[in-house]
Amino acid sequence: MSTQNELLSDHAYDGIQEYDNPLPGWWKWLFVLTCVFAALYWVYFHSGVDGRGIHAEYDRHLGEVMVQRFGEIGVLEPNEQTILKAMYDPAFEKYRKVGEATYKTNCVQCHGIAGEGGVGPNMTDNYYKSIKGLEDIVSVIQNGAANGAMPPWKNRFSHPNIAILTAAYIASLRGTNVAGGKAAEGTEISPWPKYEAK
Ligand code: HEC
Repeated sequence: MSTQNELLSDHAYDGIQEYDNPLPGWWKWLFVLTCVFAALYWVYFHSGVDGRGIHAEYDRHLGEVMVQRFGEIGVLEPNEQTILKAMYDPAFEKYRKVGEATYKTNCVQCHGIAGEGGVGPNMTDNYYKSIKGLEDIVSVIQNGAANGAMPPWKNRFSHPNIAILTAAYIASLRGTNVAGGKAAEGTEISPWPKYEAK
């Protein structure tokens, strides 16, 4: 067949002549397209723009779940009474886990697994740098401190309750005086107020 002869390449091996049998054009173009797609995909999802990528998507879904989960307690107010409730009220038992989990996920690298401190201050003693009352903990978590050495979290948590529950967890670490913790920083403050159920 003449077409077959045209396809023969110059190359022969062990007396066998090789076909020049190129991949079909559509296949090659498909390959080129996947490369282009990969490049666009990378630029879109992995170039560090906020709100894209799986982490942002995860946060959005988590946000929806949180709204459902927090349905019964609603959006908490960042005041002393609420934080005390979050620390001691039996009804908040399951929500305390949210604060603890948030701390363990986001804060341990600077404040230590037990709050003993590291880059950030020790949370287990009675000394604080910018905290006088419980509600200050929420505002430091939300807005950060020391020009971002303590990063602001208000745009990173999927629900405002998370900062309050994390503040309650941090407040509960006070007085545990973990052995080998970072030396005290700041000033000694008066004890947290007593919680009286209302
Ligand atoms: C990148 C390190 C880093 C991470 C992560 C971090 N912090 Fe901090 N944090 C700091 C530093 C540093 C300070 C001290 C700021 C200053 O000098 O006032 C601080 C201070 C604080 C304070 C005030 C302590 C005081 O004595 O005034 C609180 C409360 C706090 N962090 C909570 C948190 C929580 C909650 C998280 C996690 C959601 C967190 N931090 C994550 C570094 C960090």
